Amino acid sequence: WIPCPILGIESSCDETSAAILDRDGTVLSNIVSSQDSVHRQFGGVVPELAARAHLSTIDRVVQAALLEAHLSKQDLGAIAVTQGPGLAGALLVGLNYAKGLAYGLSLPLIGVNHLEGHIASAWLADPTFPFPCIVLVVSGGHTHLFRREADGQTVLLGRTRDDAAGEAFDKGAQMLGLDYPGGPAIDRLARQGNPKTIRFPLSRLQKSSLEFSFSGLKTSLLYRLRDMDAAARAAQAADLAAGYQEAIVRVLVDRAFVAVRSSGVRALAVVGGVSANSRLRALLTARAQAEEIRLALPPMAYCTDNAAMIASAGRQSLLSGQRPVADLEILPSLRP
Ligand code: KG4
Ligand code: ZN
Repeated sequence: WIPCPILGIESSCDETSAAILDRDGTVLSNIVSSQDSVHRQFGGVVPELAARAHLSTIDRVVQAALLEAHLSKQDLGAIAVTQGPGLAGALLVGLNYAKGLAYGLSLPLIGVNHLEGHIASAWLADPTFPFPCIVLVVSGGHTHLFRREADGQTVLLGRTRDDAAGEAFDKGAQMLGLDYPGGPAIDRLARQGNPKTIRFPLSRLQKSSLEFSFSGLKTSLLYRLRDMDAAARAAQAADLAAGYQEAIVRVLVDRAFVAVRSSGVRALAVVGGVSANSRLRALLTARAQAEEIRLALPPMAYCTDNAAMIASAGRQSLLSGQRPVADLEILPSLRP
Protein backbone atom coordinates (compact mmCIF):
# COMPACT_ATOMS: atom_id res chain seq x y z
CA TRP A 1 0.00 0.00 0.00
CA ILE A 2 1.21 3.51 -0.75
CA PRO A 3 -0.55 6.84 -0.20
CA CYS A 4 -2.22 8.13 -3.41
CA PRO A 5 -2.69 10.10 -5.53
CA ILE A 6 0.84 11.51 -5.69
CA LEU A 7 1.53 15.14 -6.57
CA GLY A 8 4.93 15.60 -8.25
CA ILE A 9 6.69 18.97 -8.27
CA GLU A 10 9.71 19.86 -10.46
CA SER A 11 11.62 23.16 -10.41
CA SER A 12 15.30 22.24 -10.77
CA CYS A 13 16.06 24.36 -13.84
CA ASP A 14 13.82 26.36 -16.15
CA GLU A 15 10.49 24.51 -16.23
CA THR A 16 7.96 24.79 -13.45
CA SER A 17 5.94 21.60 -13.44
CA ALA A 18 3.31 19.77 -11.40
CA ALA A 19 1.77 16.39 -12.13
CA ILE A 20 -0.56 13.91 -10.48
CA LEU A 21 -0.29 10.13 -10.61
CA ASP A 22 -2.98 7.74 -9.43
CA ARG A 23 -2.50 4.48 -7.54
CA ASP A 24 -1.35 2.38 -10.49
CA GLY A 25 0.99 5.08 -11.82
CA THR A 26 -1.34 6.48 -14.49
CA VAL A 27 -0.64 10.15 -15.22
CA LEU A 28 -3.81 12.13 -14.40
CA SER A 29 -2.22 15.47 -15.26
CA ASN A 30 1.20 16.89 -16.16
CA ILE A 31 1.41 20.68 -16.41
CA VAL A 32 4.67 22.26 -17.57
CA SER A 33 5.28 26.00 -17.60
CA SER A 34 8.39 26.83 -19.61
CA GLN A 35 10.58 29.85 -18.86
CA ASP A 36 12.04 30.02 -22.37
CA SER A 37 10.67 33.52 -22.90
CA VAL A 38 12.39 34.72 -19.70
CA HIS A 39 15.85 33.41 -20.62
CA ARG A 40 15.78 33.80 -24.42
CA GLN A 41 17.31 37.29 -24.48
CA PHE A 42 20.27 36.03 -22.40
CA GLY A 43 20.91 32.93 -24.52
CA GLY A 44 20.90 30.66 -21.46
CA VAL A 45 19.26 30.07 -18.10
CA VAL A 46 19.83 32.93 -15.63
CA PRO A 47 19.60 31.27 -12.18
CA GLU A 48 18.16 34.25 -10.30
CA LEU A 49 15.49 34.85 -12.94
CA ALA A 50 14.67 31.14 -12.96
CA ALA A 51 14.03 31.16 -9.20
CA ARG A 52 11.81 34.21 -9.45
CA ALA A 53 9.83 32.79 -12.35
CA HIS A 54 9.27 29.54 -10.42
CA LEU A 55 8.05 31.55 -7.44
CA SER A 56 5.51 33.48 -9.48
CA THR A 57 4.21 30.39 -11.31
CA ILE A 58 4.33 27.41 -9.01
CA ASP A 59 1.00 27.81 -7.26
CA ARG A 60 -0.82 28.35 -10.56
CA VAL A 61 0.85 25.27 -12.05
CA VAL A 62 -0.13 23.08 -9.06
CA GLN A 63 -3.72 24.39 -9.22
CA ALA A 64 -3.85 23.58 -12.94
CA ALA A 65 -2.58 20.04 -12.31
CA LEU A 66 -5.28 19.49 -9.65
CA LEU A 67 -7.97 20.93 -11.92
CA GLU A 68 -7.01 18.73 -14.86
CA ALA A 69 -7.03 15.65 -12.61
CA HIS A 70 -10.45 16.69 -11.19
CA LEU A 71 -9.02 16.68 -7.68
CA SER A 72 -8.66 19.12 -4.82
CA LYS A 73 -5.66 19.45 -2.49
CA GLN A 74 -7.54 17.48 0.15
CA ASP A 75 -7.67 14.42 -2.13
CA LEU A 76 -3.87 14.10 -2.32
CA GLY A 77 -2.09 11.20 -0.62
CA ALA A 78 1.58 12.16 -0.96
CA ILE A 79 3.95 14.72 -2.50
CA ALA A 80 7.18 14.01 -4.39
CA VAL A 81 9.55 16.89 -5.12
CA THR A 82 12.88 17.30 -6.89
CA GLN A 83 15.64 17.67 -4.30
CA GLY A 84 18.58 17.97 -6.74
CA PRO A 85 20.71 18.18 -8.75
CA GLY A 86 19.87 21.62 -10.10
CA LEU A 87 20.02 25.35 -9.50
CA ALA A 88 19.88 26.05 -5.76
CA GLY A 89 17.45 28.96 -5.93
CA ALA A 90 15.18 27.13 -8.36
CA LEU A 91 15.17 23.94 -6.26
CA LEU A 92 14.39 25.95 -3.12
CA VAL A 93 11.15 27.27 -4.60
CA GLY A 94 9.73 23.85 -5.46
CA LEU A 95 10.95 22.18 -2.30
CA ASN A 96 9.66 24.86 0.05
CA TYR A 97 6.32 24.96 -1.73
CA ALA A 98 6.07 21.16 -1.40
CA LYS A 99 7.09 21.30 2.24
CA GLY A 100 4.47 23.89 3.06
CA LEU A 101 1.76 21.95 1.26
CA ALA A 102 2.78 18.65 2.89
CA TYR A 103 2.87 20.24 6.33
CA GLY A 104 -0.49 21.97 5.88
CA LEU A 105 -2.22 18.83 4.63
CA SER A 106 -0.27 16.36 6.83
CA LEU A 107 1.00 14.49 3.77
CA PRO A 108 4.15 12.38 3.41
CA LEU A 109 6.88 14.18 1.45
CA ILE A 110 9.41 12.31 -0.70
CA GLY A 111 12.60 13.88 -2.12
CA VAL A 112 13.49 12.79 -5.67
CA ASN A 113 16.83 12.83 -7.50
CA HIS A 114 16.14 14.60 -10.82
CA LEU A 115 18.11 11.92 -12.69
CA GLU A 116 15.98 9.21 -11.12
CA GLY A 117 13.04 11.16 -12.48
CA HIS A 118 14.43 11.08 -16.03
CA ILE A 119 15.14 7.36 -15.67
CA ALA A 120 11.59 6.73 -14.41
CA SER A 121 10.17 8.44 -17.52
CA ALA A 122 11.08 5.33 -19.55
CA TRP A 123 8.41 3.37 -17.69
CA LEU A 124 5.74 6.10 -17.77
CA ALA A 125 4.74 5.29 -21.33
CA ASP A 126 5.80 1.64 -21.25
CA PRO A 127 5.21 0.12 -17.79
CA THR A 128 6.19 -3.34 -19.10
CA PHE A 129 9.67 -2.23 -20.20
CA PRO A 130 11.97 -5.02 -18.93
CA PHE A 131 14.90 -5.25 -16.51
CA PRO A 132 17.82 -5.40 -16.62
CA CYS A 133 18.25 -2.61 -19.13
CA ILE A 134 20.72 0.05 -20.23
CA VAL A 135 19.59 3.64 -19.64
CA LEU A 136 21.16 6.60 -21.45
CA VAL A 137 20.29 9.91 -19.77
CA VAL A 138 20.95 12.80 -22.16
CA SER A 139 19.95 16.25 -20.95
CA GLY A 140 21.27 19.77 -20.58
CA GLY A 141 23.28 18.75 -17.53
CA HIS A 142 23.94 15.04 -17.99
CA THR A 143 25.18 12.44 -20.42
CA HIS A 144 25.25 9.26 -18.35
CA LEU A 145 25.02 5.58 -19.22
CA PHE A 146 23.58 3.29 -16.56
CA ARG A 147 22.70 -0.34 -16.14
CA ARG A 148 19.47 -0.71 -14.20
CA GLU A 149 18.36 -3.86 -12.37
CA ALA A 150 14.84 -4.91 -11.41
CA ASP A 151 15.50 -4.13 -7.73
CA GLY A 152 16.35 -0.53 -8.60
CA GLN A 153 20.11 -1.07 -8.31
CA THR A 154 21.86 1.23 -10.75
CA VAL A 155 25.43 0.99 -12.00
CA LEU A 156 27.09 3.94 -13.74
CA LEU A 157 28.81 2.59 -16.87
CA GLY A 158 30.11 5.82 -18.36
CA ARG A 159 29.56 9.56 -18.55
CA THR A 160 30.75 12.65 -20.33
CA ARG A 161 34.24 13.89 -19.56
CA ASP A 162 33.31 17.47 -20.35
CA ASP A 163 30.07 18.92 -21.75
CA ALA A 164 26.69 17.22 -21.63
CA ALA A 165 25.06 16.46 -25.00
CA GLY A 166 22.38 19.11 -24.37
CA GLU A 167 25.09 21.66 -23.63
CA ALA A 168 26.78 20.78 -26.93
CA PHE A 169 23.47 21.43 -28.69
CA ASP A 170 22.84 24.68 -26.82
CA LYS A 171 26.35 26.09 -27.29
CA GLY A 172 26.46 25.01 -30.93
CA ALA A 173 23.14 26.71 -31.56
CA GLN A 174 24.43 29.89 -29.97
CA MET A 175 27.48 29.86 -32.26
CA LEU A 176 25.19 29.33 -35.24
CA GLY A 177 23.11 32.32 -34.13
CA LEU A 178 20.00 30.21 -33.56
CA ASP A 179 17.13 30.84 -31.21
CA TYR A 180 17.08 29.69 -27.58
CA PRO A 181 16.75 26.87 -26.51
CA GLY A 182 19.32 25.54 -28.92
CA GLY A 183 18.54 21.83 -29.10
CA PRO A 184 15.11 22.14 -30.73
CA ALA A 185 16.44 24.94 -32.99
CA ILE A 186 19.28 22.77 -34.36
CA ASP A 187 16.86 19.84 -34.70
CA ARG A 188 14.49 21.96 -36.85
CA LEU A 189 17.18 23.56 -39.02
CA ALA A 190 19.04 20.26 -39.54
CA ARG A 191 15.98 18.77 -41.22
CA GLN A 192 16.63 21.10 -44.17
CA GLY A 193 20.32 20.21 -44.36
CA ASN A 194 22.50 17.30 -45.38
CA PRO A 195 24.55 15.75 -42.55
CA LYS A 196 27.19 14.58 -45.02
CA THR A 197 27.98 17.94 -46.63
CA ILE A 198 29.94 19.34 -43.70
CA ARG A 199 31.37 16.62 -41.55
CA PHE A 200 32.50 17.10 -37.99
CA PRO A 201 34.92 14.81 -36.17
CA LEU A 202 33.35 12.22 -33.88
CA SER A 203 34.86 12.28 -30.43
CA ARG A 204 38.20 10.54 -30.46
CA LEU A 205 37.66 8.24 -27.50
CA GLN A 206 38.28 4.54 -28.05
CA LYS A 207 35.61 2.61 -29.89
CA SER A 208 34.87 0.38 -26.94
CA SER A 209 34.71 3.31 -24.51
CA LEU A 210 31.51 4.12 -22.65
CA GLU A 211 32.58 7.69 -22.03
CA PHE A 212 31.61 10.77 -24.00
CA SER A 213 33.37 14.00 -24.92
CA PHE A 214 31.83 16.93 -26.77
CA SER A 215 34.20 19.84 -26.14
CA GLY A 216 36.36 19.06 -29.21
CA LEU A 217 33.29 19.12 -31.42
CA LYS A 218 32.34 22.53 -30.11
CA THR A 219 35.80 23.87 -30.87
CA SER A 220 35.64 22.37 -34.33
CA LEU A 221 32.40 24.25 -35.05
CA LEU A 222 33.99 27.44 -33.76
CA TYR A 223 36.93 27.07 -36.19
CA ARG A 224 34.62 26.23 -39.09
CA LEU A 225 32.57 29.35 -38.50
CA ARG A 226 35.64 31.52 -38.07
CA ASP A 227 36.79 30.53 -41.56
CA MET A 228 33.47 31.49 -43.18
CA ASP A 229 32.09 34.92 -44.00
CA ALA A 230 28.54 35.88 -43.10
CA ALA A 231 27.14 34.98 -46.52
CA ALA A 232 28.71 31.52 -46.47
CA ARG A 233 27.45 30.91 -42.95
CA ALA A 234 23.92 31.83 -43.95
CA ALA A 235 24.03 29.75 -47.11
CA GLN A 236 25.31 26.69 -45.28
CA ALA A 237 23.46 27.08 -41.96
CA ALA A 238 21.27 24.02 -42.46
CA ASP A 239 24.19 21.78 -43.50
CA LEU A 240 26.26 23.05 -40.57
CA ALA A 241 23.40 22.25 -38.16
CA ALA A 242 22.85 18.83 -39.74
CA GLY A 243 26.56 17.92 -39.65
CA TYR A 244 27.01 19.14 -36.08
CA GLN A 245 23.89 17.34 -34.87
CA GLU A 246 25.00 14.17 -36.64
CA ALA A 247 28.33 14.17 -34.79
CA ILE A 248 26.52 14.35 -31.43
CA VAL A 249 23.82 11.77 -32.09
CA ARG A 250 26.15 9.25 -33.79
CA VAL A 251 28.32 9.13 -30.68
CA LEU A 252 25.27 8.79 -28.42
CA VAL A 253 23.88 5.90 -30.47
CA ASP A 254 27.26 4.17 -30.80
CA ARG A 255 28.04 4.31 -27.07
CA ALA A 256 24.55 3.19 -26.09
CA PHE A 257 24.84 0.12 -28.30
CA VAL A 258 28.39 -0.62 -27.12
CA ALA A 259 26.88 -0.74 -23.61
CA VAL A 260 24.03 -2.95 -24.79
CA ARG A 261 26.37 -5.36 -26.51
CA SER A 262 29.06 -5.54 -23.84
CA SER A 263 26.52 -6.13 -21.06
CA GLY A 264 24.44 -8.67 -22.95
CA VAL A 265 21.30 -6.74 -21.96
CA ARG A 266 18.53 -6.70 -24.58
CA ALA A 267 16.74 -3.49 -23.61
CA LEU A 268 17.73 0.17 -23.97
CA ALA A 269 15.99 3.29 -22.66
CA VAL A 270 17.02 6.76 -23.81
CA VAL A 271 15.67 9.62 -21.69
CA GLY A 272 16.19 13.33 -20.94
CA GLY A 273 15.71 16.48 -23.01
CA VAL A 274 18.03 15.46 -25.86
CA SER A 275 16.01 12.26 -26.38
CA ALA A 276 13.42 14.57 -27.98
CA ASN A 277 15.85 15.01 -30.90
CA SER A 278 14.25 13.68 -34.09
CA ARG A 279 17.49 12.48 -35.69
CA LEU A 280 18.55 10.67 -32.51
CA ARG A 281 15.13 9.01 -32.27
CA ALA A 282 15.27 7.88 -35.91
CA LEU A 283 18.78 6.42 -35.62
CA LEU A 284 18.01 4.67 -32.33
CA THR A 285 14.79 3.20 -33.67
CA ALA A 286 16.50 1.85 -36.81
CA ARG A 287 19.43 0.40 -34.89
CA ALA A 288 17.22 -1.19 -32.21
CA GLN A 289 15.12 -2.80 -34.92
CA ALA A 290 18.17 -4.12 -36.75
CA GLU A 291 19.70 -5.55 -33.57
CA GLU A 292 16.34 -6.73 -32.13
CA ILE A 293 16.78 -4.66 -28.97
CA ARG A 294 13.73 -3.46 -27.06
CA LEU A 295 13.85 0.35 -27.06
CA ALA A 296 12.08 2.79 -24.73
CA LEU A 297 11.88 6.36 -25.99
CA PRO A 298 9.47 8.40 -23.87
CA PRO A 299 6.92 10.55 -25.68
CA MET A 300 8.03 14.19 -26.09
CA ALA A 301 6.13 15.44 -23.02
CA TYR A 302 8.24 13.16 -20.80
CA CYS A 303 11.63 13.87 -22.46
CA THR A 304 12.26 17.41 -21.29
CA ASP A 305 11.82 18.32 -17.62
CA ASN A 306 8.38 17.47 -16.26
CA ALA A 307 6.82 16.55 -12.93
CA ALA A 308 5.16 13.31 -14.08
CA MET A 309 8.59 11.66 -14.05
CA ILE A 310 9.26 13.08 -10.56
CA ALA A 311 5.94 11.77 -9.23
CA SER A 312 6.72 8.42 -10.85
CA ALA A 313 10.18 8.17 -9.25
CA GLY A 314 8.61 9.21 -5.93
CA ARG A 315 6.01 6.46 -6.33
CA GLN A 316 8.79 3.92 -6.91
CA SER A 317 10.57 5.14 -3.77
CA LEU A 318 7.39 4.72 -1.72
CA LEU A 319 6.82 1.26 -3.19
CA SER A 320 10.35 0.24 -2.27
CA GLY A 321 9.82 1.39 1.31
CA GLN A 322 11.56 4.78 1.38
CA ARG A 323 10.41 6.79 4.41
CA PRO A 324 9.09 10.33 3.93
CA VAL A 325 11.26 13.08 5.41
CA ALA A 326 9.58 16.14 6.93
CA ASP A 327 12.68 18.37 7.04
CA LEU A 328 13.82 17.74 3.47
CA GLU A 329 16.64 19.99 2.21
CA ILE A 330 17.72 20.82 -1.34
CA LEU A 331 20.79 18.99 -2.67
CA PRO A 332 21.99 21.09 -5.65
CA SER A 333 24.98 18.81 -6.33
CA LEU A 334 23.19 15.51 -5.77
CA ARG A 335 24.95 12.71 -7.67
CA PRO A 336 23.27 10.01 -9.73
O1 KG4 B 1 16.02 17.27 -19.53
P1 KG4 B 1 16.04 18.70 -19.83
O2 KG4 B 1 14.72 19.38 -20.10
O3 KG4 B 1 16.72 19.53 -18.68
C1 KG4 B 1 17.82 19.09 -17.99
O4 KG4 B 1 17.65 18.29 -17.03
O5 KG4 B 1 18.93 19.51 -18.39
O6 KG4 B 1 17.03 18.89 -21.07
C2 KG4 B 1 17.23 20.13 -21.66
C3 KG4 B 1 18.20 19.96 -22.80
C4 KG4 B 1 18.63 21.28 -23.43
O7 KG4 B 1 20.02 21.27 -23.57
C5 KG4 B 1 17.92 21.28 -24.78
O8 KG4 B 1 18.61 22.00 -25.77
C6 KG4 B 1 17.89 19.81 -25.09
O9 KG4 B 1 17.59 19.19 -23.85
N1 KG4 B 1 16.86 19.47 -26.09
C7 KG4 B 1 17.15 19.02 -27.33
C8 KG4 B 1 15.91 18.89 -28.00
N2 KG4 B 1 14.91 19.27 -27.15
C9 KG4 B 1 15.52 19.62 -25.98
N3 KG4 B 1 18.32 18.72 -27.90
C10 KG4 B 1 18.30 18.28 -29.16
N4 KG4 B 1 17.17 18.15 -29.90
C11 KG4 B 1 15.95 18.44 -29.36
N5 KG4 B 1 14.84 18.30 -30.09
ZN1 ZN C 1 16.23 17.23 -16.67
